[in-house]
Amino acid sequence: MEMKKKLLEIKNLKQYFNVGKPNEVKAVDGLTFDIYEGETLGLVGESGCGKSTTGRTIIRLYDATDGQVLFDGEDVHGKKSKAEMKKFNREMQMIFQDPYASLNPRMKVADVIAEGIDIHGLAKTKEERTKMVHDLLETVGLNKEHANRYPHEFSGGQRQRIGIARALAVKPSFVIADEPISALDVSIQAQVVNLMKKLQREKGLTYLFIAHDLSMVKYISDRIGVMYFGKMVELAPAEELYKNPMHPYTKSLLSAIPLPDPVYERNRKRQTYDPSSHNYREGDQVELREITAGHFVLCSEKEYEELKKQ
Ligand SMILES: Nc1ncnc2c1ncn2[C@@H]1O[C@H](COP(=O)(O)OP(=O)(O)OP(=O)(O)O)[C@@H](O)[C@H]1O
Ligand SMILES: [Mg+2]
Repeated sequence: MEMKKKLLEIKNLKQYFNVGKPNEVKAVDGLTFDIYEGETLGLVGESGCGKSTTGRTIIRLYDATDGQVLFDGEDVHGKKSKAEMKKFNREMQMIFQDPYASLNPRMKVADVIAEGIDIHGLAKTKEERTKMVHDLLETVGLNKEHANRYPHEFSGGQRQRIGIARALAVKPSFVIADEPISALDVSIQAQVVNLMKKLQREKGLTYLFIAHDLSMVKYISDRIGVMYFGKMVELAPAEELYKNPMHPYTKSLLSAIPLPDPVYERNRKRQTYDPSSHNYREGDQVELREITAGHFVLCSEKEYEELKKQ
């Protein structure tokens, strides 16, 4: 097997909200996984399972309650100088779900895109700044005439392209895309995904691609992680996960996806996941265990033995 470089190492990451209060939420509850350089890791799970919080904590929009995020071997959440923080902020960028809400309506597209260029002082002259903005617009399939317009003059898909250009402006190596296509028309979704794939190839980007169902991440992901109530229940290469899902929650998610195959459709039964079906007992070590190479499942020792046999 080729040795892939770990760009990010997430170790026992926790993000609890309202700690100690009656409304305490363990939004992210002990996640451990790696993201390899150049890959797309899809992250799926139903609404409220902690996907966005995971992304936001990794990128340090939130301070972690516990755990570590290593970027290129360095702890993102440790004590950092201003210069180091700036470096991380440049290396890691985020694309958001709602291209309407995430672009400042009072700023011209050129200034939206150049915000990071200005913060990080990446352009030496005004002309260079303008050139960079024009190049970025072209990179995402827009053109330089668009620079002097305002976000509301664009369609949803175009706005998402502007959001992508803004993220790319600081030449990041890692991009978190939090449901970047969920708010778009189905006809536009594939275009944006294709654009992201093209940019990944050209720039060697690494993606964490968040979506709430498995049909959306299938096409773009190299590996897929499935989250349930703040925990990763399964993590596997994309194809393997679709062919051979092992955790009952993953099976339930897959059973919800219609496929253009009449035989499959006739036999498709919607499965629901019942967490109590595990019958875990006090003292059971329920953790993410590797069943086959690269295929991890959250399970007890006993479940592990059974899964290994299958
Ligand atoms: N800032 C916050 N303060 C308190 N609770 C929060 C905060 N952000 C998220 N939560 C809670 O944490 C849990 C996880 O939320 P999160 O937004 O990460 O889920 P998600 O998987 O991204 O859901 P969706 O698919 O709806 O975007 C939810 O119970 C949510 O209510
Ligand atoms: Mg979310």
